[in-house]
Amino acid sequence: MSSSSATNYNKFDEPFARIYNETLGPSYNKIALPTLEKLLLPYIPEKANILDLCCGTGELSQWLLNKGYQVTGIDRSQRMLEYARHNAPNCKLILGDVRFFELLPTFHAVSSMGLGFNHIQSLSELTATFNNVYNALDSNGIFVFDLRLENVYSSTLNNRVLGDVKDDYAWAMKNIYHPESKECRVFVTTFQLRDIDCWKRLDTSFSLMSYSKDEVQSSLENVGFTEIIIYDIKLDLGLITEADMVCFVCRKPI
Ligand SMILES: C[S@@+](CC[C@H](N)C(=O)[O-])C[C@H]1O[C@@H](n2cnc3c(N)ncnc32)[C@H](O)[C@@H]1O
Repeated sequence: MSSSSATNYNKFDEPFARIYNETLGPSYNKIALPTLEKLLLPYIPEKANILDLCCGTGELSQWLLNKGYQVTGIDRSQRMLEYARHNAPNCKLILGDVRFFELLPTFHAVSSMGLGFNHIQSLSELTATFNNVYNALDSNGIFVFDLRLENVYSSTLNNRVLGDVKDDYAWAMKNIYHPESKECRVFVTTFQLRDIDCWKRLDTSFSLMSYSKDEVQSSLENVGFTEIIIYDIKLDLGLITEADMVCFVCRKPI
């Protein structure tokens, strides 16, 4: 498995992993867990074998494990996986890139929640990821993932600043959307207390890409997925989210 050379993920990982573990992950999972409860769990066997792509800090993997499923998580960030090893010690965790993974078709379900696929930088890479998912799914296996669409980045989230201040740590994150490239650049600044009155500042940034419903749907169809349904998390599932999200559900045919 390889990783992208386009972004320096080590620099990005260190502050983001802590922010994600303490703040962003728990807030995304308030949406992701009830979404899976409605759209995935009723349709898979007891003790199903589930692959959690872009598993991050492992909170969701552990939640699935607690429900009796067998869970394998993949993430390309060493730092995120260190948190995952602590949060989900009995899940199988793999350091790897979802654009390039190969696993035997043994999974009843593959999920990717918490907007992991918005981190994938092009439609062709997203399609390559879908292809890997298809190959890892058992026949009639189900694939569920959430995504933010373009309108969210260009409206609600553009120029939005998030942040928090703790005793030994402070962070701020700002989104800037570039409609011509469909890229939302996320700038992160952290301050870490190193000694009395000595704070270390670190600036980094990463990109989230926006995709349209139609291009994602065609890409899934081209790979071979069927029964594709797109749920609006607010309108169709009644969940309260700050920024609109959709969830795709589809199947590998028998
Ligand atoms: C927003 S977090 C979501 C974490 C987790 N799914 C959750 O719901 O808490 C996105 C994760 O995707 C991972 N990621 C992004 N691109 C990836 C890739 N190409 N392969 C593997 N992991 C990737 C990042 O390292 C990060 O941990």
